[in-house]
Formats: sequence, C-alpha cells, structure tokens
Amino acid sequence: MTREPVLGTPVPRLEAETKTHGTARYAGDVLPEHLAFAWPVPATVALGRVAGIDADDAARAPGVLAVLTHENAPRLHPGEDGTLDVLQSPAVPHRGWPAALVVADTLDNAREAAALLRVRYEPETAELLTGPQDPRAYRPEQANGGHEADLDTGDFAEAFAAAPVRLDLTYRIPALHNHPMEPHTSTALWQENGDLVVYDSNQGSTTVRDTLADLFGLEPGQVRVITQHVGGGFGSKGTPRPQAVLAAMAAKVVGRPVRLALPRGQMAALVGHRAASVQRVRLGADPGGRLLALAHDAFNSTSTVREFAEQSAVPARVMYAVGNLRTTHRVAALPIPSPSWMRAPGECPGMFALESAMDELACSCGVDPIELRVRNEPTVEPGSGRPFAARSLTECLREGARRFDWDRREPAPRSRREGRLLLGTGVAASTYPLLLVPSRAEVQAVAGGFEVRVNATDIGTGARTVLAQIAADALDVPLESVRIRIGDSALPPAPVAGGSAGTNAWGWAVHDAARALRRQLADGGPDLAAADTGAAVADAPDLARHAFGAQFAEVAVDRDTGEVRLRRLLGVFAVGRVLNPRTARSQLAGGMAMGASMALMEGSPLDAAFGDFTARDLAAYHVAGYADLPRMEVAWLDETEPHATPMGSKGIGEIGIVGTAAAVANAVHHATGVRVRDLPLHVERLL
Ligand code: MOS
Repeated sequence: MTREPVLGTPVPRLEAETKTHGTARYAGDVLPEHLAFAWPVPATVALGRVAGIDADDAARAPGVLAVLTHENAPRLHPGEDGTLDVLQSPAVPHRGWPAALVVADTLDNAREAAALLRVRYEPETAELLTGPQDPRAYRPEQANGGHEADLDTGDFAEAFAAAPVRLDLTYRIPALHNHPMEPHTSTALWQENGDLVVYDSNQGSTTVRDTLADLFGLEPGQVRVITQHVGGGFGSKGTPRPQAVLAAMAAKVVGRPVRLALPRGQMAALVGHRAASVQRVRLGADPGGRLLALAHDAFNSTSTVREFAEQSAVPARVMYAVGNLRTTHRVAALPIPSPSWMRAPGECPGMFALESAMDELACSCGVDPIELRVRNEPTVEPGSGRPFAARSLTECLREGARRFDWDRREPAPRSRREGRLLLGTGVAASTYPLLLVPSRAEVQAVAGGFEVRVNATDIGTGARTVLAQIAADALDVPLESVRIRIGDSALPPAPVAGGSAGTNAWGWAVHDAARALRRQLADGGPDLAAADTGAAVADAPDLARHAFGAQFAEVAVDRDTGEVRLRRLLGVFAVGRVLNPRTARSQLAGGMAMGASMALMEGSPLDAAFGDFTARDLAAYHVAGYADLPRMEVAWLDETEPHATPMGSKGIGEIGIVGTAAAVANAVHHATGVRVRDLPLHVERLL
C-alpha cells in the first residue's frame, strides 16, 4: 500500500495546542509539594574575593530556609566547566558571579532576604580594555568545535605582498547576548533514596544529567533531568548552567524541592554570550577579483573561568578558492563573564567579516559581488583539500539574484533615492557545517500504534514533529499512529539541540530503529527495536559537508537622521532535504531575523570600571521586533545530501543567521557609500 508521503510536508507542531492553551509545562511550571525558592546574590566587584558575609539579618527574615555561601554549600567534584563550580571558594572571577544563594518559602521572601545579605569583598584591580595587540592574547589549544587554532596553506605573506589588489580590513563586533524568552530555570528535588530529579530548561538533558552526576558524585542512573518544553536557548542552554547546580545544592540543604529561575538581570553574567571580537581580514587579488591570498585573524576576549575561542576564521577555510591561506585564532582571558555558544558561533561573526570584505573587494575591483563570489568558487575545500559532498552556493546566489532583480541594480553607491531616503541592496553568502553526532533511539509497537523514545530536546523548533514524521515515514504508517517521547534523560541518550545537528542525529537513530522494527514485525520478531547512529557516524566518508546560502537585503537610510530601515530580506538556502517546510521556514527566517537584529541593534557594552555588561534586560538590550523587520522571504533549492543521513537533510538551525549582518551592512554601503565595519549599524556610524 502506498500512502501520502509525510516527510517533507508542512505538518503543524504536535504541541501547538498545548502551548497556545498554556498547558505545556516548562521547568518553572512544575509545582512539587513544599516547593521553596532560591535567589542568587551576585558579586559586586569585578575581581577579588569574598572576605566576609554577614547573613544574620537575611537568616532572620520571614520565610528564609537557608543562606548558602562558599563556607557552607555542599562540596562539588569540579569538572571541566569552571562556570559550574559555584559557591566552592571565596574567589570572585567576575562581577555577577554568585557570592551566595538565599532560599525561602516564597520567591518574594527569597528576594527580600537576598537584599539583606551583607557581603564584604577584597577587590583586586585588573585592566579590561583589550584588542588583538593585548600582550595577554594567546593561541588557544583549539578553537570552538575542535578546530585547529591556526591553519596555513601556501605562503600568505609572499602572495599578499605580490598581489595587484590588496585590502587590509578590521571588523569589530560587540558582545551579544542570547536572551531566550524563558530564563534559565531549574526545579530540583532529592528523593528519599538519594536520587536527584531536576526539571531544567536546557538544550540537551542527557548532558545535564551526566554533568550533575559528576558534580555531585552520583552515578548517571541516580540523576534524572526532565526537559519537556524550552522557551528558546540559542546556544545559551547548550551546556549545563549554574542554576541547575545551585537549585540541586539548595534542595539538598533545605530538604525540600527548590526552584531557581534566574532573574533576567543576572543572566547576562551567568549564562554566556557571544564574545566581543576583533577580526582582521586581508585579501590579495588580481584585478579581476580572483583571490591570490587570504588571511583571517580572529581575536576574542574570554574569561578566566572557562576558555572560549570563537572559531570565526574557520569559514575562510571553506568558502573561497585561494592557495595562500592563513587563519588564526587568539584569545585573552579577562575578569569578565564567560562567553559561550550563541547561534552559529564562529560562522556568524566570521562571515560578517569575510562577506563584508568580499563586498569591499568587489567594489575595489569593479566586479559585481555575485560574479566575484562565482569567480572564486573552489573545486575542493581550500583548508582541507577534501571534495565537497554537495556545494550549491552559486545556485543560491543565482536564484536569489533572480528573485531580487539583481541585474537591474546600479553598482555605484548612492545611486538610488526616494526623497530623503537613500536606497541600496546588498548580498552575502552563508555557510554552516553538517555535523554528525551519535544518538540512540528506540521504537516500540504499542497498543494503537508506535512509541518513539529518544532524549531529544524541543527548544521551540518543532523537534517532536519532525521526529514523528521521520518515524512514520520509516515505519510506513500514518503520522497519527506515532507517539513521541522526548525531553527526559531516562530515555535513550541523545546529543544536544545544537550545532544544527539535532534532527540529523536523533532522526537517524529514529529512522534506523523504525526500519529495524518494521523488519522485526514482518518476521514475527520482538516489538521493540533500538538503534545507535554511532557506528554509522564513524563510517561516514571523508567529504566536506556544508550547507550554503545567499542572503539579500534592501535598506532605506534616512540621509538626515541616519536611521536604517530594512525593506526586504531574502535568504536562499541549500540545506539538503527539507523535512518539514513549515518549521524549516520558521527556523531559517528566525535566524535571518536574529542576524538583522545583530546588524542594526544588538550589542552588550562592557563597563570597563565594573567588568560587567550594562545592558542586562530587554529594555536596554535591543532585539529586533516585528516592526523592525520586513516580510521575511525564505527559499531553498531542491537538494538532498546523499552522503550523510538516511533523511537527506543537512541542518537548518543556524545557517539563517550566517551572512545576514554582512548583507545588511553591504546594502547600507550601497545606499550611502559609508562602509561600517563595527556593528551595530547605529546612526552615529552613518552620519
Ligand atoms: Mo547552537 S549556538 O549550536 O546551540
């Protein structure tokens, strides 16, 4: 029997109704009996140590159950991630680090008592301002994602010196914050047998379970982390966060369940950010714009608690044909909050610099920016020499050009006006790697259908829905007969919703388990099958696998006020097979919106006196809203990636943000003739 295909169709989110009806349960919605509430007390010095804590008034305040400090908090077994070693020593590595935790019977009482705590600090001084020339800058062992910090091919210096066209450009991006709508929240409770249960908001609860087990000296089987719904993460929930550790500590001390929802104002210092970065790009080319030499030197600040080297120079190893390539990463560890993953770490900031520089090269050579990119298409991945599994960048650029009437564009800047408005268009390329990560899944025949079990996390993307589609397709049954169980570390272990890799990892295991079950049932075998993508991942052929895309922006800039308005945003992507066009469109458009927001508005200034971020709420940290954005146009090519997963998909969570900011900045240059290399594109940079 042939049925209507379910994979590749726009199935609405399975949990849509529970979310719109308010019955979906998030980590802060569970209400165990005798629930208590915790409120952290952030350190108020940039660097130093806690010299004394006077907790008398706080301890006597109404409803207070405990005041945890480094002197009385449960001892942890420290792991690799120093951001989780909370309340273990008097050291204050940065402002906003938790100096204490107050636990009370109500949230209000906890917050009131926290204000009564008197913490005395012995401050130290440190120099914060930094750049690539900072003597403290060093070469990290690896850039984020396991990439080599430095990679050279050919001889950049010689080729650059001899190149007829030379550009030496420096781009700056401020610290950026993920700020998901749902703050980082945990509700922790210890069971009578000593097991720990945590309802936690994260991007992968298998990882959180394993980390908590290590920190508290438990076996993984003694910890259960439940993550049914998540109100956004954007990378900030990709690693376990201190609220889970603090909530578990507090619950242990007071012998009651404890909830800790990080206050928005404390998140900026505690849950990561995109590191402030400086990138130098040097391009040497012939007069026709063919690259002869390319250097991308990336620098970012990190903390003393956890090193994070944003892999911004990595896309230069992928994008363009150039024999003489130099890519480097340097970091300086400062007494500031720890940076971490934020949507497309590396690719997002790196492609702002590289794709702005390519636009500058196009202008210098008088070559159309699309033609320039096509002229520099590589036949193999330049950094590795590996052939590409599928590379459709040129097709994305051409399809975008067609939809954007690019051939009617007048190349000279400031050539289109509408009253006081200067109009311009810009283009930039996108890229994101296809990452293959092991996962495990089970599929069982149950009364009325099939149950799929995998500890995937739905961070708002529609993970449940697409896994149900994959399972129904592989089982050849209607979607309605598939029940999905995710978001619980008691389920088969699975990787985080991150690296645009979740659907491929979980989906591959689900697909294989479903196929195995179908075979078993046909043979009269057992009603349960499990599959592990691990072996298949290891066998993957040695090909360069990336998604590609092209971003197009049209802007109107007010000649008198410098205000930039986006008129049009178009993204054309080659992301392998699109498994659900409805949720895929949302992911890609969401990424583009975030990139536009980064271009025009976002930035977390660091106060050099306090070593902390000044914009610590959504009133001060500006994020683009609907009124700031044009209608988002998202398109994709008909592509499948036959060398990776059985679904033919690549990954869509992050590529939407990559290149968007460069497309907007390039459009602003086309409109105004002003080249802005420092984000965001605030009015003062344009006047
Ligand atoms: Mo995404 S920054 O890999 O969670």
